[in-house]
Amino acid sequence: MRRFTWSMSSTSVSSSNSYSQTFQQLPGAIIIGVRKGGTRALIDMLSLHSGVAVSQKEVHFFDLQKNYEKGLPWYVSQMPYAFPDKLTIEKTPAYFTDVHTPERIHQMNPDIKLLLIVREPTLRMISEYTHAFHNRLRIQKQYMSINDFLLKDGEIKLKCIALNRSLYYVHMQNWLEYFPLDSFHIVDGDELIRKPWQEINKVERFLKLEPQINSSYFYFNETKGFYCLKDHGQEQCIRESKGRAHPYVAPAILEKFYQYFHEPNKKFFSLVSRTFNWS
Ligand code: A3P
Repeated sequence: MRRFTWSMSSTSVSSSNSYSQTFQQLPGAIIIGVRKGGTRALIDMLSLHSGVAVSQKEVHFFDLQKNYEKGLPWYVSQMPYAFPDKLTIEKTPAYFTDVHTPERIHQMNPDIKLLLIVREPTLRMISEYTHAFHNRLRIQKQYMSINDFLLKDGEIKLKCIALNRSLYYVHMQNWLEYFPLDSFHIVDGDELIRKPWQEINKVERFLKLEPQINSSYFYFNETKGFYCLKDHGQEQCIRESKGRAHPYVAPAILEKFYQYFHEPNKKFFSLVSRTFNWS
């Protein structure tokens, strides 16, 4: 049985049988990005928590006009069925860089919790290239070399979208127009790779979840080179498209980018009142 329930403060759809009643409800937290920051790993890891229900696919409600026009009932219909005491979380990395999304999310719920995961900006760009390269390969199309992706006539391509996405402060400024800093928790994507349980513990605290996910939920997979998950005894690695080998980039090119990002990174650190292991 499906029933729509509407109220000023909440929108939910319920499904019941004689044993239980589960609901689709608006998310209490959203992973807003950044693309290639480790968003899939983050949501898969959070899904191990017994108090959390996650939407498996990227919903793209706030950033895609055609979805936004379908309204909140459509958004709710994209959420997982869960008991009402569970925290629903969705992730759509495109939200972070979309100019309309902060205001739209704020209109829906000004108290929502926002999770952002960032990584060293040059590495994030190379990850984006690797992703695009493999997508093209899958459809048997060629893609430019990493050097052509990054540089034109030996200089950084300033108009590159991937470069813009790594200018975290630009996008963060837009979010801070609508939400105070304490609405956000920023996950260190590089640390999530090294010691995932430590980063997840911080997220649990921010989301006011009971601390549950410890190192016993992970095992290091030598072949993959990443931590994989143990879910009720079942071992599972985050999907194959994540964690692929990156192309070689000459140290001099990397250095050029580290220098380029130095000032933007400082601005980001100042906006969010913390630093990361990259500068
Ligand atoms: P690479 O594929 O470039 O290594 P997103 O999910 O936002 O697209 O981010 C993808 C990135 O998540 C991967 O980038 C990978 O480095 C990172 N990641 C973090 N933890 C991971 C894990 N446990 N398994 C696989 N990838 C992980």
